Amino acid sequence: MRLEGISAAVTGGASGLGLATARKLAGAGATVTIIDLPASPGAEVAAELGARFAAADITDEQQFAAALDAADEAGPLRALVHCAGRGARIRLVEKDGEPGALEPFEDVIQLNLIGSYNALRLGAARMAKHDAVDDERGAIVLTASVAAFEGQIGQIAYTASKSAIVGMTLCAARDLASKAIRVCTIAPGIMDTPLLGRLREDVRKSLEDSVPNPKRLGDPAEFGALACNILENPYLNGETIRLDGAIRMAPR
Ligand SMILES: NC(=O)c1ccc[n+]([C@@H]2O[C@H](COP(=O)([O-])OP(=O)(O)OC[C@H]3O[C@@H](n4cnc5c(N)ncnc54)[C@H](O)[C@@H]3O)[C@@H](O)[C@H]2O)c1
Repeated sequence: MRLEGISAAVTGGASGLGLATARKLAGAGATVTIIDLPASPGAEVAAELGARFAAADITDEQQFAAALDAADEAGPLRALVHCAGRGARIRLVEKDGEPGALEPFEDVIQLNLIGSYNALRLGAARMAKHDAVDDERGAIVLTASVAAFEGQIGQIAYTASKSAIVGMTLCAARDLASKAIRVCTIAPGIMDTPLLGRLREDVRKSLEDSVPNPKRLGDPAEFGALACNILENPYLNGETIRLDGAIRMAPR
């Protein structure tokens, strides 16, 4: 798919990996709609990039659908990069012997997994209405994590949600093949997003040392570049790509 002139939506586009993707897409000439929480800096970021901002909590189906409609009104929606998501620390048995809490598990599944399912179905339904260009109607990029494959202690909810996203990828690509819509997923390792900016310098250094090559954290721009490569390459479909400097996470 040629990115120039297309309408593209990026969830979680006000920060981190989503922001880097929105920046790359805007640089490539796409009309970008950033979809993020009303309290996020989405409006300021969009103004800086020459993008549009549609405020929405993606766990709310109606808000998410309205934000995708706004992106589709900017021009036929062809690309959706879904980055909104977060982790949570939960143990199966707490230090005091009580079972781990259920609610934070449900919250993470709601945001990361059900949010990704909604991105697939709400995004694809809009793309499917448009004429194909160069034999395709659109492409959707989901965001998993290396925790989908090597969940660390405390990541039970995050790992459950991210491995489900990996599992949905081929299934969704097969389902949407008849509509000429592709689906791929990126599984990032440790990326240098605002979350990690708050870490102590020694902790950050030990994270960097745990990456085989290159020995540093991932640059969000590298995620944005891969998301754009996936959108551009019509033969990439149904695949999850690790973007992680060959890291394999230890149990803790
Ligand atoms: N940073 C990493 O090292 C890393 C590694 C692996 C996977 N990931 C995944 O990448 C994605 C982006 O992570 P990031 O590091 O850029 O995080 P981030 O916190 O910098 O950005 C996430 C964005 O999502 C938005 N968001 C959160 N909940 C939302 C909701 N309900 N509705 C709409 N927007 C919402 C936030 O406002 C924020 O702007 C997440 O899915 C995360 O799990 C990140």
